[in-house]
Amino acid sequence: MTPDSDTILVTGAAGQIGSELVPALRKIHGDSRVIATDIIQPSPALAGSGPFEKLDVTSRQELGEIIKKHRIKIIYHLAAILSATGEKSPQKAWEVNMNGLYNVLEASRELGVKQVFCPSSIAVFGPATPRVNTPQDTILSPTTIYGVTKVAGEHLGEYYVRKYNLDVRGCRFPGIISSETLPGGGTTDYAVAIFYEAIIHRRYTCFLKPETRLPMMYMPDCLKSILTLMAADFNRLKHHTNFNVTAMSFSAAELATEIKKHLPDFEVEYRPDFRQAIADSWPESIDDRAAREEWGWQPDYDLARMTAEMLQILGEKHRQGKLAYP
Ligand code: SER
Repeated sequence: MTPDSDTILVTGAAGQIGSELVPALRKIHGDSRVIATDIIQPSPALAGSGPFEKLDVTSRQELGEIIKKHRIKIIYHLAAILSATGEKSPQKAWEVNMNGLYNVLEASRELGVKQVFCPSSIAVFGPATPRVNTPQDTILSPTTIYGVTKVAGEHLGEYYVRKYNLDVRGCRFPGIISSETLPGGGTTDYAVAIFYEAIIHRRYTCFLKPETRLPMMYMPDCLKSILTLMAADFNRLKHHTNFNVTAMSFSAAELATEIKKHLPDFEVEYRPDFRQAIADSWPESIDDRAAREEWGWQPDYDLARMTAEMLQILGEKHRQGKLAYP
């Protein structure tokens, strides 16, 4: 467990996961002990609820100064470029994802940080990986630069566990669905956009084929997985940086059907683009028994419960004129 004196740093705090992890951590540990950082300005709510520092994770100097200034002991390293954006600029994805993580691990080693969380992704898998019930320990053959950086990141983190006794942990997240902040540039983003379009326009043009089935998770389960893994007894873990986790799997058509149960006039058309090839290289479903056995992973949301809650939350924001969607 986290001693009360430990100060926590979150990188990528303005992103999809960060914008909800920061408030969750502040609730547990106190507002002033969670230092939110990002290269972009966060929402006023996030910046106003506790310390915020501007940070480019590719700058080791900036990172080191913030760690020293706030005497950071725990880092949640969420800053990353996702799969679809990464394919538009592979060099930038490598720079941010690899050098960012390397800087976090090196600064942690040098400056006495005790624990690091770094998310991995289903993007570590590829066409040679079994696609159904993808095992924990299996072939990693990513076709995207994002996946390449996540495979390398898992191994780099594991190296720091072995070589330097640094406590590094991570989950391979599936698509994350959330009602607070839009995801930025992933292949699974359709499963968030579809809710906004359903509520605002009752129509959605999907960039994946209807039969494309991917593993997914609702944000409350994502936060639960991060907090539970970070609180787990390190000595009980056989894996560290690469836990398979999942909550549900559905196709784009199945998600549309579930939304139609609430909004019967909702219509979807399918116009696959370059993201289809990425989705086709990823698993349809995940075997997360290692996470269940080693640290008690257990999701709370299935497709029906997640859909009902997303429509309720976003519908309420829309009625209040507060649904921000580009
Ligand atoms: N949601 C991510 C993406 O689509 C997968 O980790 O890039």
